[in-house]
Amino acid sequence: MSENRLDQVMESIIALPEDWHGAGSMSEKTLRHLTKVLGEMQPINYSVETGSGKTTLLFSHASTNHKTFALDSGNGSISNVKASPIFNAEHVTFVEGPTQITMPAFDFDQPIDVALIDGPHGYPFPDLEYYHLYHHIREGGLLLLDDIQIPTIKNIHRTLEADDMWDLLEVVDNLSFFRRTAHEGVSPTEDGWWKQGLNRELYERNSKPPVPPTVLQRVARKGKSVLPPRVKGALKVLVRGVEE
Ligand SMILES: C[S@@+](CC[C@H](N)C(=O)[O-])C[C@H]1O[C@@H](n2cnc3c(N)ncnc32)[C@H](O)[C@@H]1O
Repeated sequence: MSENRLDQVMESIIALPEDWHGAGSMSEKTLRHLTKVLGEMQPINYSVETGSGKTTLLFSHASTNHKTFALDSGNGSISNVKASPIFNAEHVTFVEGPTQITMPAFDFDQPIDVALIDGPHGYPFPDLEYYHLYHHIREGGLLLLDDIQIPTIKNIHRTLEADDMWDLLEVVDNLSFFRRTAHEGVSPTEDGWWKQGLNRELYERNSKPPVPPTVLQRVARKGKSVLPPRVKGALKVLVRGVEE
């Protein structure tokens, strides 16, 4: 889709009422920026989002194969999308149900160009969604994390910002834009906490080799067995911290 056509779609989305559905949508500023980013990424062959709403309308034009993992629960975030004349149903598949259940069972069988996390916001649900998505996002692909004003979601943002797997491109209102780097990152079935930027300082501090003892310390240690107690006592005063 051309950037001009995508801009026209965005204007129609922005013209919808703010409370178009009952689950809370992105701001106009954020939708404008997201449209620009998706326009620059064309063509987008495979995209995924958690949660549904105005962004689904946008992705239905910006991507040729878009998966939306969401629940409607009567808030209209899916039903209003499906009923909207702006919606391009041909490009979207809904995977309806709690992402806590649908995502682990889903087979992500191709590299993801763009993933947006904006479904359930309670801890640890966005973290769970991240787990199911991150290793499928291709190098150069984007991860978008919404509502980073929520402290538990800000924690994900801080973790990714420090991780070599991601470059933080920008933050617009409460949406962060990360780009996947070439760095290997952690395997989804192993550990590797020590490789992650936020943890590296602690890991390096704890794994430093012990400092070799000073000459005075060595003399004090050697003298322990042979020197008279008074001399040993004097040495102990000199070498603070030497163990008995
Ligand atoms: C903030 S809204 C998404 C807004 C959308 N991105 C937009 O621009 O309009 C959150 C979405 O997550 C859905 N949701 C809430 N809990 C969910 C869950 N456990 N599993 C899947 N979707 C959920 C809501 O119904 C809603 O569709």
